[in-house]
Amino acid sequence: MSNAAAPATDGSDRSTPLHVAIIMDGNGRWAASRGLPRAEGHRRGVDALRRVVRASNELGIQYLTIFSFSSENWSRPATEIRDLFGLLRRFIRNDLATLHADGVCVRVIGEREGLDPDIRGLLSEAEDLTRGNTKLNLVVAFNYGSRHEIAKAAQRLAQEVADGKRTPESINADALGQYLDAPDIPDPDLIIRTSGEQRLSNFLMWQAAYSELVFVPIHWPDFDKAALEGAIAEYARRERRFGGLAAKTGS
Ligand code: FPP
Repeated sequence: MSNAAAPATDGSDRSTPLHVAIIMDGNGRWAASRGLPRAEGHRRGVDALRRVVRASNELGIQYLTIFSFSSENWSRPATEIRDLFGLLRRFIRNDLATLHADGVCVRVIGEREGLDPDIRGLLSEAEDLTRGNTKLNLVVAFNYGSRHEIAKAAQRLAQEVADGKRTPESINADALGQYLDAPDIPDPDLIIRTSGEQRLSNFLMWQAAYSELVFVPIHWPDFDKAALEGAIAEYARRERRFGGLAAKTGS
C-alpha cells in the first residue's frame, strides 16, 4: 500500500469505498460480558470475519484489510497467542476453498520471519491458490506493525544509498511507499475500529494519511453486514479533501 494511489481523488462520487480496513477489536470484552472465556470471543470473532468477507464481496468492496495479529499481541499470555494462531490455522484450512470459490484473492502483510513454519506455509498456500482471483482482495495483516513496516522500508532505502544505487535526495514519500509490504494496493479509504476505542494502534499509519476513520461502539463478534453498511454510510457523508479545498468553495 503506497501513498501513490488515493482512489477517490479522481473526482468520482464513490459512495462505496474501494478499500476498507478493519481493526477487529472487542473480542475479549464481548466474552467477558457474557461470562465466557476470551478464546470464545476470538472464535466468535472469526464468525464475524466470515460474515464481513461475504458482505464486502456483495457490496463490491475491492480491498478488505483486517488486523488479525499485531506485533504487539506477542505480549499477551502464551495460551491466548496459541488460541489466536490456532484460529488462523483453522480459518485457512476450513475456509480457503470457499474463499477461492468466491473469487477472493488473499494477500498477507506483516513479518513472516519468526512465525512457525506451518503458519508460514498456510499463509503462502492461501496466497498461491487465490493469486488469480479477481473479486475481493482480502489483505490479512498478521504479525503486522506499522512502525516496523516503515522502518524496514527505510532500511532498504538506506542500503541502496550505501550501495551507491540512489542518492539521499531521491528519497521521498513515493520511494518509501514502494517498499511497504503491499505497494500495489491503494490506501484505505475507510478504516473501521470496533468496540469504541478511538486509535490506530500501529495499524497502517502511513497508508491512513487520508483515510476516513469510523469508530463503532459494538464489539467485533457482533459486527455484521448491517454494521458494515452503517460505517459505509457514515463514510459516504464525509467530505474528503486530501488537503485541498471543499468541492463547494474550491475550483
Ligand atoms: C481484538 O480483540 C482482536 C484481536 C487481538 C485479534 C483479532 C482476531 C480475530 C477476529 C480472530 C482471529 C482471526 C484470524 C483470521 C486469525 P481483543 O482481544 O483485543 O478484545 P478486548 O480489547 O476486548 O480484550
